[in-house]
Amino acid sequence: MTRRMTRRGFLGTAATVAGVAAAGWVGGAHLLAPGRPELFLPSELPLPPRFRSPLPIPRVLDPVRRAADADYYEITQRIAELEIIPGYRTPAWTYDGSFPGPTIVSRSGRRTVVRHRNELPRPTVVHLHGGHTPADSDGYPMDVTVPAGHERSTAHSGHTGFRSVAHGHRDYSYPNSQRAATLWYHDHGHGATGYMVWHGLAGFHLVHDEEEDALGLPGGEHDIPLMITDRSFAVDGSFRYPLADPQLHTHGVTETYMNGVLGDVILVNGAPWPVARVEATRYRFRLLNASNARRYRLELDPPPPGGAALVQIGSDGGLLARPLPRDRIDAAPAERFDIVVDFARYRPGTRVRLVNRLGSGPTGEIMCFEISGPVRDSPPLPVRLSSDPSLDPRRAVTTRDFHFQLRPDHGWTINGRPYEAGQILARPRLGTTEIWRLVSDFRHPVHIHLDPFVVLARNNRAPGPFDSGWKDTIDMNPAEAVEIAVRFTDHPGTYMLHCHNLEHEDMSMMADLVTEE
Ligand code: C2O
Ligand code: CU
Ligand code: CU
Repeated sequence: MTRRMTRRGFLGTAATVAGVAAAGWVGGAHLLAPGRPELFLPSELPLPPRFRSPLPIPRVLDPVRRAADADYYEITQRIAELEIIPGYRTPAWTYDGSFPGPTIVSRSGRRTVVRHRNELPRPTVVHLHGGHTPADSDGYPMDVTVPAGHERSTAHSGHTGFRSVAHGHRDYSYPNSQRAATLWYHDHGHGATGYMVWHGLAGFHLVHDEEEDALGLPGGEHDIPLMITDRSFAVDGSFRYPLADPQLHTHGVTETYMNGVLGDVILVNGAPWPVARVEATRYRFRLLNASNARRYRLELDPPPPGGAALVQIGSDGGLLARPLPRDRIDAAPAERFDIVVDFARYRPGTRVRLVNRLGSGPTGEIMCFEISGPVRDSPPLPVRLSSDPSLDPRRAVTTRDFHFQLRPDHGWTINGRPYEAGQILARPRLGTTEIWRLVSDFRHPVHIHLDPFVVLARNNRAPGPFDSGWKDTIDMNPAEAVEIAVRFTDHPGTYMLHCHNLEHEDMSMMADLVTEE
């Protein structure tokens, strides 16, 4: 381990991380035994009634300035007291005072610059998930912004592991040279991402383009982002999260939860089991599973006559080639599914629940829709959505293997190694196609930064039903070998590859990859 990367007394050392993970291994293995009911972190307050809170829609952020070639935004990261559970105050870590943070709307090919001011009590890192972003704006975990006025304490505790330190604020510059897609931004602090995101640091960033404009998809009030998260609350209304060390000197959570923290309150756009009044017409929903570790199997109950309630039109990386009618959607952490639901297929007055078939009791329900009349016909979906070509695996120049494993000595690892900044696991050449073989022990939602990929096979068979289109996160089942085709285009530099179960990520299932010209 390099001294340079060690930060004692702040986020802890890699040695401590390995220690925590090793201690947790025996218990962890026990928790992962097949057939064991899911272990969740129970809330200490009475759960609120379901389907009472109105669905919040995150506000769209206005630029502070528009220039000829770029739009400029400002976001202040700060603690805000939110009323999430009616009658309780929750101190949340927010982007600009809300959870989710404000939505940023960009045009493909037009630059967006976001100045993030840090007024939180800790260093922060912002990552645009799904962004085709130059390395210095990608939110590498060692590129931190320390809160203004904290420079001294930072220096005093000897935090020497950072690659770049901004004081008070940092400008993140996104060229948006990518297709229309549902992206999201969230904190990526080294070893603390689970804690930071759980406390509220996540928001949407949407990219639009002309190909999408030409399709006449439901827009405006009929295009709604839905951020689904599970959380637990302490008796005073604060978020409950089982940090291994409340001072955050060591990474991750207590051994009981090392396989991921699951809450018992489902929030959509920050409200518990909300209700949305909708018209009897078509809606586009941008589903984002922003949960730390929970997977969902989403269905509408009752389904509309004839089934196929959820028509998938997009994946992590943007529009699919054609719409795919589905009865359900399985969503792992960080995955996005753009879907169209036609509420005109229901009788006005119907109440339709969005349910989670992988949950039970409170976690078996997500939100509900109350359909009001009159029925409004809307244009049918086009048969073809996008002509964006896929990757041809026959052109691959390299094959690489990545093993995602729990190791008794090191915790959650990739190719046997816990994360160490600066240790490079792969050096793909820009512009070339490669085959990556990902092999799992347990469930891992594996995410790759910079460019989306295409799923070729699962266990030598066809890809799964939810692998269609361009992906940046793949929901790996236990003991599975997945083949994907990756191609990084422009932007040389250091990027990340990691499990997006945020507790696995924090407890070191992450690696650096360096793109080279
Ligand atoms: Cu959504 Cu590297 O993360
Ligand atoms: Cu990402
Ligand atoms: Cu994992």
